[in-house]
Amino acid sequence: MNLILLGAPGAGKGTLAAYLIEKMGVPSVSTGNILREAIKNNTPLGREAKQFMDAGQLVPDQVVIGMLKDRIAQDDCKNGFILDGFPRTIPQAEALDKIASIDCALSLEVPDEVIEGRMTGRRVCLKCGATYHVKANPPKTPDVCDHCGDRLHVRKDDHMGVVRHRLATFHEQTEPLKDYYGAQGKLKSIDGTQGIQQTEQFATAALGL
Ligand code: AP5
Ligand code: MG
Ligand code: ZN
Repeated sequence: MNLILLGAPGAGKGTLAAYLIEKMGVPSVSTGNILREAIKNNTPLGREAKQFMDAGQLVPDQVVIGMLKDRIAQDDCKNGFILDGFPRTIPQAEALDKIASIDCALSLEVPDEVIEGRMTGRRVCLKCGATYHVKANPPKTPDVCDHCGDRLHVRKDDHMGVVRHRLATFHEQTEPLKDYYGAQGKLKSIDGTQGIQQTEQFATAALGL
């Protein structure tokens, strides 16, 4: 299955993707993670993306579309993939339709008021990509990654000023994708405000896994 996870910043796309990778046996592709990795390694792509990401703006379509094409052309995506954070604009969705056939766009519905608590409590491992929350999903040892033992960080774009900007960008540019996939009969929506396990159950049921 080729699945898209739609949802606001902090809706829980990355957290649900980590669960679905196991359940569906396909990789997840997070454009945000690929871009953060490029920034960490100070590549030309990273240098271009950094200013946009730090400001809570979208990286230009042509940059992410090329990046995504290269990624899903790789062998491990042959039997399906989960897209976390792509597409985020109508032009990205149109480009995707030309290179892959999408089975379902699953929208995680979380209102803006809930997002603030999600973002301020989030901690991420820059080494292995694992995501935690100080209350909803704490690591065994505070600020240390359960998987690789590296130190956890607060993402640069998780400060409230930037989060508000990311939410505005989401409503303006990404939310119209619900109508785009709705019109194709591919949209499924689930409540993303319940706990992590409950959200996993809603997703499992919606996808018929
Ligand atoms: P990206 O990294 O994709 O960020 P995002 O979409 O803003 O989403 P997040 O990763 O912040 O949230 P999430 O939905 O994954 O939530 P998470 O699972 O971590 O993109 C970052 C930037 O890169 C963009 O702003 C843009 O600049 C650029 N970019 C990326 N893709 C692009 C594209 N296609 N085009 C252009 N630019 C692009 O959960 C959040 C927190 O809540 C965690 O602490 C988690 O533990 C907790 N949590 C999760 N689920 C639950 C639950 N059910 N109950 C309680 N807590 C929960
Ligand atoms: Mg994420
Ligand atoms: Zn780690």
